[in-house]
Amino acid sequence: MPKPKVFVTRLIPEEGLAMVREATAMKLWEGELPPPHKVLLDEVREVEGLLSLLTDKIDAALMDSNPRLKVISNFAVGYDNIDIPAATARGIPIGNTPGVLTDTTADLAFTLMMAAARRIQESIDYVRAEKWKTWGPKLLMGQDIHGATLGIIGFGRIGQGMAKRAGGFGMRVLYYDVYRRQDLEQTMDVTFADMDTLLRESDFVTVHTDLNETTRHMMNAAAFAKMKPTAIVINTARGPIVDPQALYAALKSGKIGGAALDVTEPEPIPTDSPLLTLPNCLIVPHIASASVATRGKMAQMAAANLLAGLRGEKLPTCVNPEVYERGVRK
Ligand code: DGY
Repeated sequence: MPKPKVFVTRLIPEEGLAMVREATAMKLWEGELPPPHKVLLDEVREVEGLLSLLTDKIDAALMDSNPRLKVISNFAVGYDNIDIPAATARGIPIGNTPGVLTDTTADLAFTLMMAAARRIQESIDYVRAEKWKTWGPKLLMGQDIHGATLGIIGFGRIGQGMAKRAGGFGMRVLYYDVYRRQDLEQTMDVTFADMDTLLRESDFVTVHTDLNETTRHMMNAAAFAKMKPTAIVINTARGPIVDPQALYAALKSGKIGGAALDVTEPEPIPTDSPLLTLPNCLIVPHIASASVATRGKMAQMAAANLLAGLRGEKLPTCVNPEVYERGVRK
């Protein structure tokens, strides 16, 4: 039996790549940048399985380009790069990598919050610019984490991870989610709040929702207007949840105190983005899940989903399980 053909759109960690190489006739895009859409289309025409990244746009046209394409495995927990209803309608199961990156992502979100609160980037720049002449009683004063109020928008796995960390730092935690988690409120010492209350009362607002039409630009001028002038917004979810123009205006005018972003709209952030000129806006390049161990586990999960789909088995972590009721592509 010939091995099934698959296309892997970037060099993922060896833990997963080895699994795919062993079981399939794998074609790998080794470029540092994602394959251009035309290349992706051409490659997909040849294969039964696709291992994609969040930088690959997977739309209905791509799915229709090859009726033998029977599984798409995304190397990410998020899947807003894929048209899920189109995949389900065509009988294509979609895999993702939940769980393994929860703590690593929450670690980074907490790191960004602390770095922004204590003005770490400005402090490093200050030292490197040889401006440090003496100890200063008012030099680079920031904000305390302990005793502050953290507002968590989106109380799924990663939002809960933030709450756990905040508890260890003596923070008060408010959360908002479309699904209230009364079952967790006592044990995690968190309080449900509506969005207005959360925005009004929080010293730090951290976003952990997925990107959809209700969360796109959820952090906009109206939201920033409700926040404290000292408040810091943290985004490790998806860039378009924060309106970049409104964020710039709010930071520049002092409506809010700071921002720390792992994700931006667009990505990468344009080099001429005015956000890059602001001392109170800290930006890192979408690295929240980027620990060696976690990226290795994500690669294994993505490979396991791909191989299960090729064998005609249910994906271990499938974002559209309803596809199995409708019938999957053979
Ligand atoms: C995801 O998995 O969705 C992250 O954005 C990258 O790990």
